[in-house]
Amino acid sequence: MGEFVVRGGRRLDGTLRVHGAKNAALPIMAASVLASGPVTLEGVPRLRDVDVMTEVLTALGATVRWVSHSSLVIDPSGINEYVIPQELMMKMRASIFVIGPLLARMGHAVALQPGGCSIGDRPIDIHIYGFEQLGAQVSETEIGTRLDAPELQAGLVHLSYPSVGATENLMMAAARTPGETRIRNAAMEPEIVDLAQFLEKMGATVRGAGTSDIRIVGQRELSGVTHTIIPDRIEAATFMLAAAATGGHVVLENCIAEHLPGLMGRLRDVGCRVEERDGDVVELTTPEKYKTTPISLHTGPYPGFATDMQAQFMAFLLKVPGVHIISERVFENRLGHARELRRMGAQIVADQRVALIYGGRPLHAADVRALDLRAGAALVIAGLMTEGETVIADREIIERGYQDLDRRLTQLGADIIQR
Ligand code: UD1
Repeated sequence: MGEFVVRGGRRLDGTLRVHGAKNAALPIMAASVLASGPVTLEGVPRLRDVDVMTEVLTALGATVRWVSHSSLVIDPSGINEYVIPQELMMKMRASIFVIGPLLARMGHAVALQPGGCSIGDRPIDIHIYGFEQLGAQVSETEIGTRLDAPELQAGLVHLSYPSVGATENLMMAAARTPGETRIRNAAMEPEIVDLAQFLEKMGATVRGAGTSDIRIVGQRELSGVTHTIIPDRIEAATFMLAAAATGGHVVLENCIAEHLPGLMGRLRDVGCRVEERDGDVVELTTPEKYKTTPISLHTGPYPGFATDMQAQFMAFLLKVPGVHIISERVFENRLGHARELRRMGAQIVADQRVALIYGGRPLHAADVRALDLRAGAALVIAGLMTEGETVIADREIIERGYQDLDRRLTQLGADIIQR
């Protein structure tokens, strides 16, 4: 595995264009399985997770090819397989997104239940419950959990928790199932709305995406379409926090401020100026000096504070004088980066769910490790605001979710290289 080497202490300044959202691209790639003809996706980020989804689709019999640096064409007409290869399931949990489309298209799907990962156990019981409500039979086999439903039945599914993945999986299956399916207590993330728009273009009717009550009227035949993926709100947040942590300034193009509730307000609370322009441009200017402001937040399903921004925000808070509290409420074990940040001298007291962060105290460079994708991004931010050479091991974990991170930060004036 490689490393990022960051020589920090430089103020970031510049303009960047935000890439398409990983978490919208992955389910929409999976939803292409539903189409009768080729699908063209634009604004697809070049990421390891996108490569794994490409492998999954190819293993099922689809053809996938890049036609420009950010456009993919997926032709699902050759799909003849319904078992998701075990090694791909192990590589990426999001492979599970293919289950719903496969079940609707082929009447069967088999997948290994994803195991525990560094941020918690992450079961798929809510996905499975939803498919059962739509008439699928579930059985455990040697190669994984098998779902059979020669004909799915539209119906009502009430989720016990607004799981993003379960909502998406059920929306995809429902889009190819005649009749009206209603998902209550659905997730409300912007990526759900993007998926809904994609399914609508293909021929399904989707009402209520972005609320907790989604209704989908499916069609037996869905057509191949062209779709542009929404901007990545987590990439945008990461660049804003990196700039803010170095006392810098950044202009982000292709950034939808509305998708960042919680973040904008808190950046303003500590004295940053955040301006929105022209619908999709956001400019962040940091104050001379952060005032002492205790910040308290907890993560939650959208429109709550995104768990995927929590680690990066924690790194940024180390810059802001005051005692801050972060409570992680989406995943049961997503504060591991506190330990890595402590290696850099950060004063953080944390258990599995809650962290107390003593901000405004100096850090020192150290050798640290990216435990998961966003934890890794947090360490990059900490490295950028710290004098000396911070070495972040397991760079590839960060690259699962950030395209050209080192090149883009260098563009803003950072000193970061990979090796
Ligand atoms: C998606 C995002 C991920 C983000 C997360 C929460 C993608 C590819 N990934 O993941 O980046 O951090 O939303 O915003 O879009 N749960 C269950 N049973 C289930 C499903 C989920 O208990 O069947 C639990 C999980 O363990 C977790 C919580 O629900 O504690 C949220 O998970 P979920 O919303 O499903 O996240 P993902 O779709 O996996």
